[in-house]
Amino acid sequence: MVAKCGPLSTVREASGLRETISSWRSANYKIGLVPTMGALHEGHISLIRRSLSETDRTCVTLFVNPRQFGPSEDFSLYPRDELSDVKVLTDVGAHLLFAPEQAEMYPSDFATNVTISGLGDRLEGEFRPGFLAGVATVVAKLLIQAMPDVAYFGEKDYQQLLVIRQMVADLGIPVAIRAMPTVREADGLALSSRNSYLTPERRELAPILYRTLCKMVEGVVAGKQVKSLEQCAENELLEAGFDRIDYITIRDSQSLEQLNKVEKPSRALAAVWLGKTRLIDNISISDSV
Ligand code: PAJ
Repeated sequence: MVAKCGPLSTVREASGLRETISSWRSANYKIGLVPTMGALHEGHISLIRRSLSETDRTCVTLFVNPRQFGPSEDFSLYPRDELSDVKVLTDVGAHLLFAPEQAEMYPSDFATNVTISGLGDRLEGEFRPGFLAGVATVVAKLLIQAMPDVAYFGEKDYQQLLVIRQMVADLGIPVAIRAMPTVREADGLALSSRNSYLTPERRELAPILYRTLCKMVEGVVAGKQVKSLEQCAENELLEAGFDRIDYITIRDSQSLEQLNKVEKPSRALAAVWLGKTRLIDNISISDSV
């Protein structure tokens, strides 16, 4: 446990955020930003701890971003518990919480949408239209509002991480993007705020996703064909009791384009449904080939 190192301040307006950040700049502090949608768990905490260890001041943002939820998605159900998040942030020693209201981020005349062509159209782009643009738009805004030196993101949301890297490079936003490995439960299930939706029965099935991704990697190492590995993985998940598979696939680890053969760094990625809960996960193949 990181020792608590001072009171956590909460600001709701970008002007308040800027005021604190500019006082930190005057003190020559290196500043870390950890964007989140709250319902904080050990995955989020790993990013915050890394920021605390690599920078002088850490700002965490909490904003359940409506623009990254489709009309039939779980925006209204998404877990919200700011009091308990504040406790987590206080215990871990974060310095500042930026928790804006919707109108602060999206005034009624807000009209900008940041889209990432190619990368943003694949996988999640196909199954959740508008999601990656919603993420890119809010992250661009948060980065510009806070202007941190480093911003921390999880590999758990791998395509999101790639899209953010691309956007930051394309727009010349002067921030370093740091990626952190996925934090998992003991049985392999990737931590996610959405895991709380799972019934006990479905929670038992959920780690099969990670095991199936690991098997795909073993298959690649054994020289099996990408197409047949993808097909087998999909069949296995459906047989195990998963309700629907959006994708379970092996892709180029940078462009996320389809591969016939694994010759360059690649990644196994999946999005699957257990009842009304959509789980995503991914693992690297590059180290194994
Ligand atoms: P959220 O799902 O709250 O995640 C916030 C950050 O925590 C993201 O960078 C995500 O990849 C990381 N994270 C989530 N689960 C993790 C795990 N098990 N291990 C490691 N890191 C994990 O992702 C979002 O919010 C939003 O899209 C956001 C970037 C805040 C934009 O609205």
